[in-house]
Amino acid sequence: MAPPLISIRGLEVQYRTEDATVYAVNGIDLDVERGETMGLVGETGAGKTTAALSIMRLLPAGTGKITAGGVFFNGVDMLGKTEDEMRRIRGDKISMIFQDPMTSLNPTITMGAQIRESLEIHSPEMTRAEMESRVDELLFSVGIQPRRKYEYPHQFSGGMKQRVVIAIALACRPELLIADEPTTALDVTIQAQVLALMDDLKKQMDTSMILITHDLGVVAETCDSVAIMYAGEIIEKGSVYDIFEATNHHPYTEGLFNSLPDLDRESERLNSIAGLMPDPSALPGGCKFHPRCGKRVEACDSAVPPVCVSGGHYIACHLFGREV
Ligand SMILES: Nc1ncnc2c1ncn2[C@@H]1O[C@H](COP(=O)(O)OP(=O)(O)O)[C@@H](O)[C@H]1O
Ligand SMILES: [Mg+2]
Repeated sequence: MAPPLISIRGLEVQYRTEDATVYAVNGIDLDVERGETMGLVGETGAGKTTAALSIMRLLPAGTGKITAGGVFFNGVDMLGKTEDEMRRIRGDKISMIFQDPMTSLNPTITMGAQIRESLEIHSPEMTRAEMESRVDELLFSVGIQPRRKYEYPHQFSGGMKQRVVIAIALACRPELLIADEPTTALDVTIQAQVLALMDDLKKQMDTSMILITHDLGVVAETCDSVAIMYAGEIIEKGSVYDIFEATNHHPYTEGLFNSLPDLDRESERLNSIAGLMPDPSALPGGCKFHPRCGKRVEACDSAVPPVCVSGGHYIACHLFGREV
C-alpha cells in the first residue's frame, strides 16, 4: 500500500527565546491522503502555524526547532533534506498560502511577474512564451482577467490579491497545498468565494490540502478529515463525519461547537469556552485542557489522557475508555 502523501509522527517543536522555552507542538501524529482535504482546527496559539511551518521547514532560524519526530512526504523523511532540496520541494511539491496576502506579495513587482517568478524557479525548461501563456491561464483560473498581469499589488483588492497568491501557490501543480487561515484577512462576503475557488482548483488539480482554520462551518463544507489541536496536541481527529456526527467528543471539541453562532436564533449566541489557553512555556500536567474542562475527573490533572480509538476516530480524554 502506498504511504500517505504526508505523514507526521511524534512531531515536537519548541521556540527558545531569551526568557523561556515555548512548547508549541507536543507530539502530534497526522496523515493526509492523496486528494484529501484535512482541516486543522484550534484556537489561536494552539500550534497550527508552527506545525505547518515545520512541514515546510520554515521555522524561524535560531528560535524555532524541531526537537523530536518526523515529517514524511511520500514516505520520505523531510527532516533529512538539505536546504537546497527543500527549496525545490517548496512550491514545486508543497505550497503554502499564508493568512495575509500582502506578506507573500512584493509591492514593487507586477502580479504577472510574480507568478512568472515561481514558474522560473520550478520549471526553468519553459520558454518565455510558454510562461506568459501559463501566467494568463493561471490568472484566468482564479477569476482574474489576464490583462491585469501588468498591474501591481496595490491596484488589487484584498480578495483579488489572495486569488493571485492562490495562483502562485498552484502554479507548479503542487501535490500538497497548506492554506493557513487563507481567508481570515478578507471581508466575510469574499471569504466564501475564495474558499470555493480553492476547493474547486484543488479538485481539478488533484492536490491534497491542509486547511488551517478556526471556522467549523468552513471545515464542514470543504474537509474530508479534521484534526483538532489544543496546546500543541491533537486532542481529537477523524473523518468530517466523526467530528460532526458522532456522539462522543472531547470536551474541547464540544466547547468549539457550542461557541458557534446559532443561526436559528435572532441574536448570535457565542458561548466561548471559559478560561484561556495555557501559557505554552508552562503547560499544566495531565490533560492540558483540564483547567478549563467542565467534565474533568480525578485523573485529569495528573495522568496523560489515554487515546481512545474507534475506526479512524481518535479522542485523547480520560472520559472514555480505550474504545469510544
Ligand atoms: N517565533 C516565535 N517565538 C516564540 N514563540 C512563538 C513564535 N511563533 C509562535 N510562537 C508561540 O508558539 C505557540 C504556537 O503558535 P502558533 O503555531 O502560531 O499557533 P496558531 O497558529 O495555532 O495560532 C504560541 O504560544 C505562540 O505564541
Ligand atoms: Mg496561526
